[in-house]
Amino acid sequence: MKFLFLVTFLLAVTVAVNSCSPSDRAALTVFKSSLSEPYLGIFRTWTGSDCCSNWYGVNCDPTTGRVTDINLRGESEDKIFIKARRTGYMIGSISPEVCNLSELKTLVLADWKSISGEIPPCITSLSNLKILDLIGNRITGTIPAEIGLLKKLTVLNLADNAITGQIPASIVNLEKLMLMDLSSNQLSGKIPDDFGKLAMLSRVLLSKNGLEGSIPNSISNMYRLADLDLSYNLLSGSIPAWIGSMPVLSTVKLDINHISGRIPKSLLSSSGLNIVNLSRNALEGFIPDVFHQKTYFTALDLSYNNLKGSVPKSLATARYIGHLDLSHNHLCGPIPAGSPFDRLEASSFQNNDCLCGMPLSTC
Ligand SMILES: *[C@@H]1O[C@H](CO)[C@@H](O)[C@H](O)[C@H]1NC(C)=O
Ligand SMILES: *[C@@H]1O[C@H](CO)[C@@H](O)[C@H](O)[C@H]1NC(C)=O
Repeated sequence: MKFLFLVTFLLAVTVAVNSCSPSDRAALTVFKSSLSEPYLGIFRTWTGSDCCSNWYGVNCDPTTGRVTDINLRGESEDKIFIKARRTGYMIGSISPEVCNLSELKTLVLADWKSISGEIPPCITSLSNLKILDLIGNRITGTIPAEIGLLKKLTVLNLADNAITGQIPASIVNLEKLMLMDLSSNQLSGKIPDDFGKLAMLSRVLLSKNGLEGSIPNSISNMYRLADLDLSYNLLSGSIPAWIGSMPVLSTVKLDINHISGRIPKSLLSSSGLNIVNLSRNALEGFIPDVFHQKTYFTALDLSYNNLKGSVPKSLATARYIGHLDLSHNHLCGPIPAGSPFDRLEASSFQNNDCLCGMPLSTC
């Protein structure tokens, strides 16, 4: 009798462990029906009652049977891609039924090239969501206004889509966010003034949009910020001086904007910054002569601005300058000798007013 009880109990546990929540299965079925993936057949695995095993890209909490992850990447090392010898392609849209998966932590629908439609606004009710990655599709519409409700979100990647509208004000409430990639969309308006409230952010990638206004001063509070890419926007105003003294900032890309004023000394005297691109702006004044033995730039691009004066002599004291581009400015006078100048090509200096000496013609 005891034995029979134990067997029944074990069976019950096994069933409970394996079974997918019927309401989650129903939501996944509707989600699937609004998408079409013609070449790999991944949705052909989404059959049978147990959505927690063998449904490609679906993971569940093993004790509750609730769906926790939808992880569908159109470009990966997975064997189905190798076998099909192609990358993924998917059309259709993201069904709002995805919002019924209330235990969802991961929603990745990345690099399928052609998923269109809008991000369902109800997505902001998925309070357990940690990763939202929809990169590389054709998603339109706006970023849901209430995005800031996703308090556990660490990754927000909506890059390479056709999203319009402004960056919602509520975005600054994503207090756990570490990566924000909204590049290559059609966002307009300003970067929120209180953007720096996002204290956990280490990568801010907003390039290739139509963002305007100036760089918010609150960014100076983002003490984990390592990578700031605001290139290819309509940003104006000057480069804030604090940018050179952020604790872990190493990459700053501001190329192709309308930024004016002078280059702050701190930016070029920083020994933490390694990649700085200020190309194609409206910067003026002299290039600060503040380089030193700890200067280490893998790339420093100041080309296509209105910089005047001479090439700073202190550049010769730098520990390392990989790629240097000072072309298309109004610089004048002799190019200093010694490292790194003996390694650089004429293209780094061309189209200035009156630069001379190696690698250009003698003075
Ligand atoms: C999703 O939730 C809504 C609202 O609770 C409900 O009406 C709908 O039937 C659910 N969808 C599925 C597929 O269970
Ligand atoms: C800097 O930005 C310009 C314009 O986007 C680009 O052409 C150039 O290659 C960049 N420089 C470096 C060193 O990456």
